[in-house]
Amino acid sequence: MGKKITDKVTWVGKIDWELKCFHGNEYSTRRGSSYNSYLIRDDKTVLIDTVWQPYDKEFVSRLKQEIDLKEIDYIIINHGEIDHSGALVELMREIPDTPIYCTANGVKSLKGHYHQDWNFVTVKTGDTLEIGKSKLIFVEAPMLHWPDTMMTYMTEENILFSNDAFGQHYATESLFNDIADKAELYEEAIKYYANILTPFSKLVTKKINEVLGFNLPLNMICPSHGVIWKDNPVQIIEQYLKWAEDYQENQITIIYDTMWNSTRRMAEAIALGIEEVDPEVTVKLYNSSKEDKNDIVTQIFKSKAILLGSPTINNGYLYSVSGLLEMVKGLKFRNKKAAAFGSYGWGGEAVRLLTEDLKDAGFNVEDEGIRLQWVPDEAQLQSCIEFGKKFASMLKE
Ligand code: FEO
Repeated sequence: MGKKITDKVTWVGKIDWELKCFHGNEYSTRRGSSYNSYLIRDDKTVLIDTVWQPYDKEFVSRLKQEIDLKEIDYIIINHGEIDHSGALVELMREIPDTPIYCTANGVKSLKGHYHQDWNFVTVKTGDTLEIGKSKLIFVEAPMLHWPDTMMTYMTEENILFSNDAFGQHYATESLFNDIADKAELYEEAIKYYANILTPFSKLVTKKINEVLGFNLPLNMICPSHGVIWKDNPVQIIEQYLKWAEDYQENQITIIYDTMWNSTRRMAEAIALGIEEVDPEVTVKLYNSSKEDKNDIVTQIFKSKAILLGSPTINNGYLYSVSGLLEMVKGLKFRNKKAAAFGSYGWGGEAVRLLTEDLKDAGFNVEDEGIRLQWVPDEAQLQSCIEFGKKFASMLKE
């Protein structure tokens, strides 16, 4: 059965406790996720978004316990990705003529996914739909995070159905932010922003300012994943505005992979050097072959600088570092400094290649990095400590 949000709005989504990977294996979801769908009952009945395809039958069957499907007057699809539109085929089998409101790009993505000629109604920013005492106002939000994305605002209840924006991959029975575990909630919210929204930060700022310019009262933000921002919903908007401004904390993250522990020992020595020069800075170390990639990305997001290390192998560097760099390149982090390090037996190309690729990924690299041959002895480890000191001093300038 659904969960009551307000007298007029009921949550009819699906909590996916077991989900451990999302987008294939692109995004780790160790706390699961939810696909939030909302049923609005005013003079007209409206369904906002559905759930991911594997839950389509369960969704429709539970929706039938909530309402006679024929009573649904309109379906709003804020975004065509299948975690939100995935139950449409099952649903439209029952109510094939029900109009589906979405953006023009939404029609393209829904047709591209399902190859059905449903009764689409395209909407643009500012278009409204009267549903009784309340009305729905549509706001296009292209590239947040797909070209088809839009948000829907409900007057009277003053709810923004924001779709992916302000969401978190976080399964919890506690549907509201004042009940959910706040530490977990913020950990998932920042991970979500860092891994999904970072490349669109300029658009995030622009869109938020545009929506704030409408001066609409806001009682709640209902995203399509995770908890609903009911207690002080503006807090997540303010947080997004901060995250969108090349966010960084006083943190340096050292990421490395290692074959026989030489590069690991270099990483640890560099950390010692940083700490010596700047005891106030938070220093974190991660082995990219052992740590969750999306958690590392989140730590990079929070960092003012990173150090990336790998031994040389086959004239290149290790694949866990390579995979991580590929992700980071796409996320387009800005205003972060970086340097490379690594051990080698012969050849020793990894540090030079890492330095080039860090620059390519948009990092400010002002140092050629440090590389050591074979297994570091005390003197070589001391040179890593000195390198850490130099790096930390450069950041303090
Ligand atoms: Fe939650 Fe872009 O789908």
